[in-house]
Amino acid sequence: MTIVRTPPLHQFIANLPKVELHLHIEGSLEPELMFALANRNGIPIPFDTPAAVKAAYDFSNLQSFLDIYYQGAQVLLTQADFYDLTWAYLLRCKTDNVFHAEIFFDPQTHTERGVEFDVVMAGITQALDQAEQELGITSQLIMCFLRHLDEASAFATLSQAELWKHKIVAVGLDSSEVGHPPEKFIRVFAEARQQGYLAVAHAGEEGPASNIVDSLDMLKVDRIDHGVRCVEDPTLVARLISDQVHLTVCPLSNTKLKVFEHMHQHNIVELLRQGVSVGINADDPAYFGGYMNDNFNAVATAIPVTRQELAKFTHNAIAASFCSQDRKQQLHSLVLAYVEQTEAGG
Ligand code: ADE
Ligand code: ZN
Repeated sequence: MTIVRTPPLHQFIANLPKVELHLHIEGSLEPELMFALANRNGIPIPFDTPAAVKAAYDFSNLQSFLDIYYQGAQVLLTQADFYDLTWAYLLRCKTDNVFHAEIFFDPQTHTERGVEFDVVMAGITQALDQAEQELGITSQLIMCFLRHLDEASAFATLSQAELWKHKIVAVGLDSSEVGHPPEKFIRVFAEARQQGYLAVAHAGEEGPASNIVDSLDMLKVDRIDHGVRCVEDPTLVARLISDQVHLTVCPLSNTKLKVFEHMHQHNIVELLRQGVSVGINADDPAYFGGYMNDNFNAVATAIPVTRQELAKFTHNAIAASFCSQDRKQQLHSLVLAYVEQTEAGG
């Protein structure tokens, strides 16, 4: 008789190949690095220690987080700062077995403070190129417009991106969802798509399901970021399933920002079982208590889920990613081989 020993779930998760499609690079700024950069740049921060910074991360909703997140980003000034920030995240990818990452950045958070667009791009892309060569991690960049700012500012940002277009795969939409609906950005998304960018948007995180519908219909997005409030509109859920619109779900973010009070109430596994293409992502890991493995573990601890279902989160993310067909094939094969090997007791 052969005894098949399957690894404990946390070990299965740790070694499962992963793809991250929803990560704000500014949200990966750990308090320790925040302090180091504040010292390096002579910028005062209203905390004495990294531990005191962490203790302040107690959020009641999205806006209470955003206020602190934009404040934290003020320590980022030079190309070296953006490089250090991005490299630190990529090292975490290596630890967590993330093989491909599609990374958001918020240029307006920096250009509004007088930091040049080129400085931001030079630092981030330096780290991404190095990670591909040295760590084998592939990546794409998604430039987000801040929805609390106006259309003119988004258009100005699109112009600034011209020289870097070959390094940016898509435009996105983030920041305060309530009060800033997709329709505000119809024209800038149309122009971006005209220029060849793909498109994504945060929708149905704190805002209503209609923001998801409007992002699809008005902004013509290729994926929805968050999207968990889709369940309030059964017709929309049916559409997401039939069109296989991917939702980049962020479980720890959703509980930290009180979209769901407890992880066991989260709808990600239910959506997966209904046939919606959902994946697991970290959003702003330095603020929400964890990176990719932490998010997978948080779901698997709170909600009974099989290894096949955990692997399906990665397959969904691969299928919805913006990488080449060849890379997608490689990534699917990695996951299939891993699941086969663990099922065989390896
Ligand atoms: N910017 C960074 N994280 C965000 C989130 N979860 N929602 C909207 N905007 C964001
Ligand atoms: Zn986000």
